[in-house]
Amino acid sequence: MPLSLAQLRRNYTLYGLRDDGEQDDPLVLFGQWLSQARKTEAPPAEANSMALATVDSEGYAHCRILLLKGFSAEGFVFFGNYQSAKGEELASNPHAAMTFFWPGLERQVRIEGAVERLDPALSDAYFLDRPAASQLGAWASPQSQPLTHRSELEGLLREVTERFAGQQPPRPEHWGGYCLQPRRIEFWQGRPDRLHDRLDYRLRNGAWQRTRLAP
Ligand SMILES: Cc1cc2nc3c(=O)[nH]c(=O)nc-3n(C[C@H](O)[C@H](O)[C@H](O)COP(=O)(O)O)c2cc1C
Repeated sequence: MPLSLAQLRRNYTLYGLRDDGEQDDPLVLFGQWLSQARKTEAPPAEANSMALATVDSEGYAHCRILLLKGFSAEGFVFFGNYQSAKGEELASNPHAAMTFFWPGLERQVRIEGAVERLDPALSDAYFLDRPAASQLGAWASPQSQPLTHRSELEGLLREVTERFAGQQPPRPEHWGGYCLQPRRIEFWQGRPDRLHDRLDYRLRNGAWQRTRLAP
């Protein structure tokens, strides 16, 4: 008998999205939702975690969880290894989609757009701000490459720890930030009886246009 999850369902009753009076600027609304999520999504949940989807050169989609490290009118910033699978995918197809899920608020936000590497000076500043162990980890880990055994990674960490003993490691060239410049941001608010609210913002000629979508 296959496992059935059909009876697992929840009715969403907490909030709504208005047609009038809702924010004209989706970045302002995102900021409000993120700050509410930081209060309601209790640890171990991380309010700034999101699923990031990229597409490789053969058209296959890949999705993984990452942490958002900042956002502004310029875009949404995350960090990782430029030589990782996602780094290769973004090099061949510089577009991505990120999705936030805040179950405590019954909310989802989807953001889509072109992705560029972050200004190196900003990646340097963020790298220096990370804990020392994370800095060494960025040097040691050939992210997404096969390892024969965990001991290989531990050996790589020992090597970089010796190499940078008593010094501040610089940011590795293969590690840094990306900035996703949004052209679409959709806010989803769960509502009772599956009649959810969806507000879709699209950037057209430099201005955000809002449309309500059917759930
Ligand atoms: C909660 C959480 C946060 C994560 N944050 C990051 C991150 O900020 N950057 C990153 O490169 N990987 C992060 N990861 C690991 C990624 O999900 C993924 O394993 C890694 O980036 C390699 O993906 P890739 O092989 O598709 O490049 C995180 C994973 C989890 C579960």
